[in-house]
Amino acid sequence: MTHPSPIGAKALQGKVALVTGGAGGIGAAIARALAAAGATVVVGYNASAAAAEALAASLPGAGHRALAAPVTDTAAIGRLAAEVESGFGRLDILVNCAGTTRFVAHGDLDGLDDELIDRVLAVNVRGPIAMVRAFRKLLAQSGDGLVVNISSIAAVTAMGSNIAYCASKAAVDNLTKSLARALAPQIRVVSVSPGLVDTEFVKGLDPQWRDRQAANTPLARLSAPDEVANAVLAVASLLTFTTGSIIPIDGGRPLL
Ligand SMILES: NC(=O)c1ccc[n+]([C@@H]2O[C@H](COP(=O)([O-])OP(=O)(O)OC[C@H]3O[C@@H](n4cnc5c(N)ncnc54)[C@H](OP(=O)(O)O)[C@@H]3O)[C@@H](O)[C@H]2O)c1
Repeated sequence: MTHPSPIGAKALQGKVALVTGGAGGIGAAIARALAAAGATVVVGYNASAAAAEALAASLPGAGHRALAAPVTDTAAIGRLAAEVESGFGRLDILVNCAGTTRFVAHGDLDGLDDELIDRVLAVNVRGPIAMVRAFRKLLAQSGDGLVVNISSIAAVTAMGSNIAYCASKAAVDNLTKSLARALAPQIRVVSVSPGLVDTEFVKGLDPQWRDRQAANTPLARLSAPDEVANAVLAVASLLTFTTGSIIPIDGGRPLL
């Protein structure tokens, strides 16, 4: 099933958007959707430089670039902000999509080692804060600055790949609200909160488990990456009076 963009090819013309984790399954869908709506897109990457370069080169429109955006490296983020300012002169939309996790059963507390907890919290929570801190000036200058944090319904269901991941996404939703209050009226801050998304990674998981997730969803399927991307587009173009909100894209999963 494909999900055409809800907005036209010029809705975001003249805007510059940066997507962290931009070469990932969901990040790439968001980068494509923003470019298709006319934005110039910076595809932020950590390890996947080649994939990010290939994606930037394939996006519709001109001027897109792949740039290093390792969200736990504050010095590197500072250099990225300087590069975006000198290269593009502005930033209108920041999508914090980078995230990390590993499956650890919730009862297996010994399997949830300190290294994993620290990495999950550093990437998923400190990363978005550090990105907003570094890009605050440019976003405020935009006149229509927007931060979209890609959260997860694990934040509210406490069902997800491990306990630290669920806690990290609850923290993301909380910081969406704090930042929305602190950065208004110049910058809006919104969480887009997906249920299980049918990325390549999820396609590779146990099919029976995936089928159970779909069966436990009122809409009886997983979300496609472009449905998450369309929510980001909607926030950027249509939902102009929305800030501090958590927008679920979950097919009703918490209802069952
Ligand atoms: N898939 C789902 O079902 C689902 C559901 C709800 C929420 N989400 C959230 O959606 C977001 C994207 O997930 P995905 O499914 O697209 O996963 P993915 O394909 O594994 O993408 C994760 C991305 O995060 C980036 N990343 C990891 N560590 C980083 C770091 N230290 N600095 C910068 N970037 C880093 C990776 O970049 P490199 O490859 O360049 O290292 C990668 O592009 C995550 O925040 C995830 O928690 C996913």
